[in-house]
Amino acid sequence: MKILSFESSCDETAAAVLSFDDDGKATVLSNIVASQIAIHARYGGVVPEIAGRAHCEAISGITYRALDEAGVTMNDVDAVAVTAEPGLIGALLVAVNFAKSLAFSYNKKLIPVNHMRGHIAANYISNQDLKPPYLALIASGGHTSFVRVRDYRDMEVVGGTRDDAMGEAFDKVARVLGMPYPGGAAMDKLAYEGKPCIKFPSAAIRDGTLDLSFSGIKTAVLNYINSAEQKNEQVIRADVAASFVEAAVSSVIAKLGDALDRYPDVDKIVLAGGVAANSHLRAALGALAAKRHVGLYMPEIKYCGDNGAMIGAAAYYEYLAGNFADTSLNASAYADI
Ligand code: KG4
Ligand code: ZN
Repeated sequence: MKILSFESSCDETAAAVLSFDDDGKATVLSNIVASQIAIHARYGGVVPEIAGRAHCEAISGITYRALDEAGVTMNDVDAVAVTAEPGLIGALLVAVNFAKSLAFSYNKKLIPVNHMRGHIAANYISNQDLKPPYLALIASGGHTSFVRVRDYRDMEVVGGTRDDAMGEAFDKVARVLGMPYPGGAAMDKLAYEGKPCIKFPSAAIRDGTLDLSFSGIKTAVLNYINSAEQKNEQVIRADVAASFVEAAVSSVIAKLGDALDRYPDVDKIVLAGGVAANSHLRAALGALAAKRHVGLYMPEIKYCGDNGAMIGAAAYYEYLAGNFADTSLNASAYADI
């Protein structure tokens, strides 16, 4: 069976066609992402109104491209899937209404998908042997959560950030260091050129929960830079980047260690979300998994950031469960997993 899937929750307009064999093995036939990064970069962040308009401009074109590249027409598609929650409401509504219209006019099943579940499901594309149960870490620009995934559709958030998301903290620190939005990937690279010689506070809240707070690290970086400038001391940007990355990654690793203590039955860790592309985080997770003798699964880099294929991958399990929407489907800005 084949699913045409859409994603427009933030600043990427994306469409993909996935084919599933009888065992549920996914093949990505096409995965088109139209990024709005260049449009938003001049504002230093995503402007919701502009994002919605840019999605409107891009969505028809990427749909033709996704079908073309997959070598299929709408007649070959069994279902249309779309991110319905959470995200920027004006952005979400574009793909939701486009998908609704397509499903209605071609008489196809319509499948609503939760964006975070999509990030997790990206792992089923990259790791065909992965099966629940496992513990997932979702780290993106909008979310940072630890999720116990009991089954493909049965999952529970057991901890996470109480303020800034990990990607958001990367982007804010990058901005202070003069990098264009979103600076997460640039910070990843710059950190290799410096030493983690500045002590920034941990984001791991020490209260027995699996919660994190990234706002403290971000403020500490700002204070460090301001105070150095006041004293006319030189700020070595690469050292700031290396020290921030060290503090952020070690905080998450510490909480993952706590999660493994709390849930001794967990034997697999799964990484998901845009920050899953971070090479320091991937390496640190590799070391943790080896030390704790648990499996580690990560998406290929191309499926870490927002994309349509991950939505199709999650939609497959909704399809099996018969979780379909009709044309009354609405988008929701706020939603748990
Ligand atoms: O999942 P995603 O594409 O969008 C949301 O759902 O938020 O995540 C985007 C976030 C941005 O904050 C971006 O800076 C961050 O992922 N990111 C990275 C890296 N690549 C993307 N952060 C750290 N290191 C990276 N290599
Ligand atoms: Zn995302």
